[in-house]
Amino acid sequence: MADLPFYPEDYSQRLLTWYGQSGRDLPWRNTRDPYRIWLSEIMLQQTTVTAVIDYYHRFLEKIPTVEALAAAQLEDVIDLWAGLGYYSRARNLHAAAKLVVEQFKGCFPEDVETLQLLPGVGRSTAGAISALAFDQHAPILDGNVRRVLCRLFALQEPPRSASAEKQLWRWSEQLTPIDHVHNYTQAIMDLGATVCIPRQPHCDDCPWIDLCLAKKLSLEQQLPLKQKVKKIPTRHEITLLIDYRGRYLVRRRLAEGFLGGLWEFPAIGVADGDSCSKKLSRLCADFGCSPNTEPMGQIQHIYSHFRLQADIYRVKIDSLPGVAEGENDWLSPEKLNIIALHGAHKKVLKKLTGE
Ligand code: ADE
Repeated sequence: MADLPFYPEDYSQRLLTWYGQSGRDLPWRNTRDPYRIWLSEIMLQQTTVTAVIDYYHRFLEKIPTVEALAAAQLEDVIDLWAGLGYYSRARNLHAAAKLVVEQFKGCFPEDVETLQLLPGVGRSTAGAISALAFDQHAPILDGNVRRVLCRLFALQEPPRSASAEKQLWRWSEQLTPIDHVHNYTQAIMDLGATVCIPRQPHCDDCPWIDLCLAKKLSLEQQLPLKQKVKKIPTRHEITLLIDYRGRYLVRRRLAEGFLGGLWEFPAIGVADGDSCSKKLSRLCADFGCSPNTEPMGQIQHIYSHFRLQADIYRVKIDSLPGVAEGENDWLSPEKLNIIALHGAHKKVLKKLTGE
């Protein structure tokens, strides 16, 4: 396992100086409150800073403490998350708040091992909370840092392989200084987000330009190596837009399980060998609609373990059918745009509105 080619202080001092001049002033950086830092880290998983900022403020206004979050209804938390995507984060956030209140008397643990007991907190998020809120010597390895380190040390293997993973964590740990951990951690995230970006990195602005092995080898555009695309199965469904005078039926999925607590249009799965027209007639009959449907196109949506292909139909109705089960509503496209529709049906909505 390779060690650092230079002294760790060479890296951290340059980075800290750069951060002092070029670091971003972000709302979660003026606090050491672990609740706020944890919330920001969860929101920032798979989401950009620009998309997060308004959500972060709105969430804290409504739910300012971990105690308030533990006492909130899951549906309200999901509604505050509406539009941010990856809703399992909201469910985990709620479950983790309960755990902090019930098991840790409302105090966030400071160390990486205990933090990882919280749902939704993996090793890197735990490192970030520990470093940012408690100044612990805890390394991180999120997507940005992974890219920075792959280039800095010219790692020429797929960055998600087990051996690369081990090596990257080791480098991250070796680079993380004992002092100024908070600023260092913010700084390396900023470097990845603003300078060492995925395509066309701004190497001339980088404080590590003369330490960077990828730059030395002219590999900065090639690294990190691309991941192999995983093969996943395709599932089909028919989605029905039931149009009652410009308002459409949506239902909330049960809180437990896949896409729990999110809203969706009525839909029916179509297995291989099923007749699509029979399935569509059945779906219409389930909601007391005529089978007089109008095709509205198709969308595809990729989840981690399958690809969804949905054929969309609209049916107009003149009187409201009774919808027996669960929470449901008839909403205009404007309202549908602001509720927590799951990602695939957000695309369905776009077909409806012609965006
Ligand atoms: N991405 C993950 N955590 C972050 C943070 N604290 N600041 C900016 N971007 C981030």
